[in-house]
Amino acid sequence: MRIGVVRETRGDERRVAATPETVRKLRDKGHEVLVERGAGVASSIMDADYAAAGASLVDGDGAWQAELVLKVQRPLPRGEGHEAERLAPGAMVLSFVYPGDDPELNRILAEKKATVLAMEAVPRISRAQSMDALSAMANIAGYRAVLEAANLFPRYLPLLMTAAGRIPPAQVLVVGAGVAGLSAIATAKRLGAVVKAFDTRPAVKDQVKSVGGEFLQLELDAGAEDKGGYAKAATAEQTEKIKKLLHETGVQSDIIITTALVGGKTAPRLIEAETVLGMKPGSVVVDLAVEGGGNCALTERGAAVQHNGVWVLGYTNLAGRMPFDASRLYARTVLTLLNHMHGKEGFKLDLADEITGPVVLMHQGQARVDGMKGGNADG
Ligand code: NAI
Repeated sequence: MRIGVVRETRGDERRVAATPETVRKLRDKGHEVLVERGAGVASSIMDADYAAAGASLVDGDGAWQAELVLKVQRPLPRGEGHEAERLAPGAMVLSFVYPGDDPELNRILAEKKATVLAMEAVPRISRAQSMDALSAMANIAGYRAVLEAANLFPRYLPLLMTAAGRIPPAQVLVVGAGVAGLSAIATAKRLGAVVKAFDTRPAVKDQVKSVGGEFLQLELDAGAEDKGGYAKAATAEQTEKIKKLLHETGVQSDIIITTALVGGKTAPRLIEAETVLGMKPGSVVVDLAVEGGGNCALTERGAAVQHNGVWVLGYTNLAGRMPFDASRLYARTVLTLLNHMHGKEGFKLDLADEITGPVVLMHQGQARVDGMKGGNADG
């Protein structure tokens, strides 16, 4: 199969979907790999590195015309047109997709009888852990969130005893102790801060402890988890209790990192303006849930803003700020998924498979999930 690796066009996207390591492995499986020139530069991967791994360096159209196009972001509107128009009829495209808000994308893909594979749809089962791009990226985002905060924070994070006097450690509050939250707790702890964390799922208490955080306990009468162990949306009454706890702890904190999401996409509002304004000047809030609408009332998407001397960071794509490692990990999850789809007789999409099935959002132009309908003649 001819596999294309294209350059990302979203402004904040520095990752790339394949690396020399994964190119080599795709070649070992008998595929031809066409890499758009410059595709890896923002991730510190030079064209010559891809060439040495056996890729052919081509222009954008050359990579887009492959049978399978590998990307990080889904095809985006481009000037008057749309990137999806560059795809060959009947081709496959694999990326993060998050469908539902671009009818033009759906229309073009349906018209091209395209097949769409979504990395965010890899089921979160043990067997698919090595294909779980979401977790790989969330881990990086949690780490990076602490560094972004530390960068703007005008103080040390660790306790210091110096000849000139004692410096107390910074107090960090992490809201949401899923993959990103646990990574943030571990990072802040390693930098010497005192870390507290809250999550509606009491099951994470031991995980928080194991990475060095103190778990803030709150009695929430109704269950906070669904059957799969994921968070359920908190009720209005529970949310009020949570906000009170976070306000009381938040105003005592120097850095707050919020990562709370329900179903991996909807962000509950947990930190009100009053909490931010109650923090000491120089404090920093990093809202990792910004793509889901944000956990903090004062977050502005994509921006760093200051209120009463407190920074509120609403950066999107924090994993993209560490493109070197993010690309390497993302590319490996992509490779593992492709290897899973690669049976004895070559590459084949088995729609009945428990991993492949959910990943295929559109098959030969037919939408398989609601979000891919809309621009579709039959949807
Ligand atoms: P996520 O990004 O959807 O949510 C982040 C965190 O926010 C979750 O821990 C959630 O409980 C919390 N949250 C939701 N509402 C909240 C509220 N009102 N207040 C405070 N916290 C709130 O979740 P993520 O990180 O993608 O995964 C969560 C869990 O799923 C992991 O900790 C792990 O146990 C499990 N998981 C399992 C995998 C596997 O088996 N392959 C892979 C990835 C995750």
